[in-house]
This record gives sequence, C-alpha cells and structure tokens, in this order.
Amino acid sequence: MTMATEKDLLGRDRADDLEAILAIANQDSDAVIHSVEDNADAIFTWDYEKGERPALNKLYEKAKGAQWNGETDLPWDTDVDPTQVLPAIGSTGDPRFGPDGTLAQNPDLPFGKFGPKEWEEMAVESINWRLSQFMHGEQGALLCTAKIVETVPWIDAKYYASTQVMDEARHVEVFAKYLDTKLTGYYPVNTHLRLLLDDIIQDSRWDMTYLGMQIMVEGLALAAFGFMHQLTEEPLLKQLLRYVMSDEARHVAFGVLSLKEYYAELTDAELRERQEFAFEAAVRMRDRFLQQEVWERLGIPVKPTVKALLDLPAEQNMFQQMLFSKIVPNCKKLGLLDASNGWLRERFAEIKVLQFEDMPDTGEEYEVFDAVTAARQAAS
Ligand SMILES: [Fe+2]
Ligand SMILES: [Fe+2]
Repeated sequence: MTMATEKDLLGRDRADDLEAILAIANQDSDAVIHSVEDNADAIFTWDYEKGERPALNKLYEKAKGAQWNGETDLPWDTDVDPTQVLPAIGSTGDPRFGPDGTLAQNPDLPFGKFGPKEWEEMAVESINWRLSQFMHGEQGALLCTAKIVETVPWIDAKYYASTQVMDEARHVEVFAKYLDTKLTGYYPVNTHLRLLLDDIIQDSRWDMTYLGMQIMVEGLALAAFGFMHQLTEEPLLKQLLRYVMSDEARHVAFGVLSLKEYYAELTDAELRERQEFAFEAAVRMRDRFLQQEVWERLGIPVKPTVKALLDLPAEQNMFQQMLFSKIVPNCKKLGLLDASNGWLRERFAEIKVLQFEDMPDTGEEYEVFDAVTAARQAAS
C-alpha cells in the first residue's frame, strides 16, 4: 500500500503552509472556456430492474415530484439592496470581523481603521464573492453529476443522477440570475475551488466523483447555504437558498446511500485512497474560504490577512468549522473516519473539525429539508 504524504496530496508539506496557499494563482481568469480531461468510460448496464436499490429508487421518485422552476417559483420582482443582503459586519456574532473583531485589533492590518463605509463595502464584496463561488461550484456539480450518469454501473443511480443534472442546471441558473440582476459584481472561480473541481472531474473511478462532489463539495454547500439562509433577511435570496437546500439534501443523501454500499466491499488500501482524497478536498475547501480575492479587490494586503485568519484559535473559527458539520458525520457513516487506523480521524482533528463526527448524517435528512413540497402542500 502506498502512503501519500501531505506533500503528495497537497503539493506542500503542511496544510497551513501560507506561501503555498498563496502561490496557487488563477492564471486564466479571463478565459471563457476551461477544459478538463475526464478519464472515464461511459458504462451501459443491461440490468434494467428498477428498484433493485430501494433507497435510491425512493430518492428518484421523490426528486421527480420535487422539481421547481427557477424562473417562476421565486419572487424575482423583489427589490434588493446589495448593502443589506447580509446583516452589518460585526452584528452577526462572527468574532473575526467588525469594529470589535479580532482582525480589527491587529495593528498590521487595516481593519482597525475601517469606518461604516469600509465595512459596508466589505459586506457587498463578500456577498458578491460568496454567491459567485456558489455559482461556480454549482456548475461543477452539473458536470460531475452528468459524469455520474455515464459512469455509475447501477440503473437506479443513473435514473436518480439524471434528476440531479436538472437540479444543478437550475441552481447555476438561479445563482447566475441573482448575481446578474440583484448584486453589483462577479468574481472568477476561486483557484482552490477550481483545483478541487478539476481533481474530481479528472479521477477515473466513478465513486470518486461522488466522494468529491456529493459528500465533500455538496456537504459543505448544504452547511454554507443553511448558514446564509439563517443570516439573510432578504426574502428572494432566503427563498432561493431554501429551495436549493431542498435539492442539495437529496444530493448528499444520494452520495451517502450509493457509497455506503460500495465502500462496504473495498479493501483497507482502497479505503485509504478515499480517505486521502477526502482530506485533500477538505483542505482545498478550507483554503477557498480564506477569500483572498476579496482582500485583493478591496486593496487589503492579502498575505498578512490570510495569515491572521489561519492563525486564529479554534474557538474564533467556529464559522469556518461549521462548514464541515455535514461532511464529518457523513464520512463517519461511510467508514472513512476509522479505516486505515483512523487516518482521516487524525487529519480532521488537525484541521479542527472532528467535533462534528456525531452530528446527524445526511442519509435521510432530505425529508426534513423538503421546503418545495411543503410550500406546495400549503398552497393547495
Ligand atoms: Fe446544486
Ligand atoms: Fe447539488
């Protein structure tokens, strides 16, 4: 069994290597097209027995009834003030930002001199940046799930994945429309996010698409959307996020249900490769939330700001860690935390996210998240 070091996985010796994090720059941010080799065979199956995997069949039937229309089911006539989409920085309980936040106390950074105008500008850039990255991530999900339709060998999974392709098209569409018609700016794909999406698409093994997308990227998205849904009072975005979350909960369930079966048959060496892939994805996603492009655009020195964020003690970083609250229990349910002598358990402890291991996993949670069906029942 070959044991990858952190250097093999991440191209750097330590997950927190500041120079290495910042050295990865986005080279082609003006290009309209980005192509990636997808290295996989398209698989036909001649076994058409529907419902051979009852949990996936149930999910498929659920998804057929839960489709919604991004143009007509959301209140697009809502007037949106971009400065008010998120509550004022400093009022959200995030200990890092705002006039009393940790970063404002750091004499090497400009935040201490910020007045209301600068904080407002940062809030506007942050929402532009976040929704841009959500949009790019949604396109990643669209491509990955189309790939799953081709590569997964089970008919129930092909059926379900085809509904997810439609879901993801709708998600790209609604985030793009919100950015275009309600906000004030757009950001190219974050370089760490792009590397992660490239890695997922390039892997030839069908289950790695699921692990990277359904478990890691979508697990994080479900937590991040839920978080922003709680924070915002803007009614259009609130409903948009709630509807997207209804779909995302099914998508994560799709990953958990499919991989649970497949991983039960893998050897310890094969599981170890999945653990390493999950850890690499986790670090890339953490790096993307350092939002270096926002600091750049605001003229704030990037390196000391990113360093200050990486150096924060764990209790100050609750907001970042919460993003892993779905990923860690789902990895545990799949047996990935404890395989190979708990390799991933140790790594997750190092990046301070292991505390979520006993939170609810997402195998069944989609029934609770289904706001679309609930709204239809209320209306009829
Ligand atoms: Fe999505
Ligand atoms: Fe999704």
